[in-house]
Amino acid sequence: MPTASLADAARLLTGVLLPVAAQGAVVRRPRVVAAVGRLDLDARAVAAVRRLRERHGPDPVHVRVLGRSFVVPVEPDDVRRVLDGAPEPFSPASPEKRGALAHFQPRGVLISPPAARAERRPFNESVLDAGQPLHHLAGPFAAAVAQEARLLTEQARAEGALTWPLLSRAWWRTVRRVVLGESARDDEQVTDDLLALRRRANWSGLAPVDRRTRARFLGRVRHYVEAAEPGSLAALVASTPARPGVAPHEQVPQWLFAFDAAAWASSRALELLAAHPDVARRVREEAPAPSADPAAPVARRPLLRAVVLESLRLWPTTPAVLRQTTATTTWRTGQLPAGAGVLVFAPFFHRDESRLPQAHRLAPELWLDGSGQEDPRGAVDWPLVPFSAGPGMCPGRGVVLLTTSTLLAALAQEAWRPVAPRLRADRPLPGSLDPFALRLLPA
Ligand code: HEM
Repeated sequence: MPTASLADAARLLTGVLLPVAAQGAVVRRPRVVAAVGRLDLDARAVAAVRRLRERHGPDPVHVRVLGRSFVVPVEPDDVRRVLDGAPEPFSPASPEKRGALAHFQPRGVLISPPAARAERRPFNESVLDAGQPLHHLAGPFAAAVAQEARLLTEQARAEGALTWPLLSRAWWRTVRRVVLGESARDDEQVTDDLLALRRRANWSGLAPVDRRTRARFLGRVRHYVEAAEPGSLAALVASTPARPGVAPHEQVPQWLFAFDAAAWASSRALELLAAHPDVARRVREEAPAPSADPAAPVARRPLLRAVVLESLRLWPTTPAVLRQTTATTTWRTGQLPAGAGVLVFAPFFHRDESRLPQAHRLAPELWLDGSGQEDPRGAVDWPLVPFSAGPGMCPGRGVVLLTTSTLLAALAQEAWRPVAPRLRADRPLPGSLDPFALRLLPA
């Protein structure tokens, strides 16, 4: 396969890979995120991949970066082929991810070799009700979210603004209840341990594993699984049959960790709603405010879920979806030996105005069918892949959209307005939106 020039490799490294790594692939570094926003580096990263496509045409580009081979697909069909081809020949367990995630989930499905993945993936799908918009524990989950959201609204009113620190603390209380159980609500140690491990994970294999903290963290998770408090994912981990090799409680760290991205997406979605009052009004009219009663029916909220999906399309929380080839792969321009990396750079596809006229504006309709219902195919014509796709797609998608849409529905009862508007409905939406700079005033 022809290889791109050194100049192209340098552009990919400095323009795309470094900004992703510097912001923190596993836990964001807020100061770097702010700097990347100021320098508009996310938009520049999209432009860098676009330049690759302009120079090399539609065939996937092969680039050598820091001694590693990478293929960068720039056509929808190639993206589909790669993501549909998990785990072989396109394995999600790339060396970068293995190095990073081993810090806190050495037996997690995402970094598992194919044989272990074959056991762990169905277990994750089963506990998370993958593919279902409403998890069968939607009642208790939504009630926990609604209760914490009510408290958050009161705190924001008392402090005069809804800010990231308030949102984040409320979200972690909610996540601990939903994932680990009611008694974990205030167990900050467990998520602080995870945070410490995630900080090391940002350095992937370059940082040594902190075995003591990892053992304490996994021990705490195991404790909650054994407690199996009703209405929690931990209870389902305890009751779901697991084949040998699944390591049930070791699947939980990925869920706890990934819920952080849901808070970033919610922060940005709140700002989208504040900048689009007509959409916020339609969201309020879509369904009644969420109930704090676990036995109450839970609304589907397709429009609000589509707003969350738009937040993730516009500012993907996993911008670089990485795969590793496990065999020789044949492309239109030639062959690549096993062991090459594949970089699907989601923002390039999500923001390609040449093929997606709505690229830079809020377009919930991308995720809805003609009758305003959630489109289960989710805009199939073009790779919109905030949750990846194919056999390695995020099995937590439904739980994420349920919990975030419930949080936003509860908060949207108040008409928040930004202190200093960063988004405008009549202007193209920016390439970056720092979720940690959230500051909204009650109306
Ligand atoms: C906004 C929130 C989230 C987003 C955008 C997201 C997105 C993704 C993406 C892109 C992947 C594929 C990663 C890769 O191939 O490298 C993934 C994998 C995964 N996600 Fe999520 N995720 C989110 C939250 C969650 C939550 C809350 C859970 C669980 C409750 C979860 C469970 C998983 C699992 C288990 C995998 C590994 C799947 C596999 O390897 O087969 N995710 N997620």
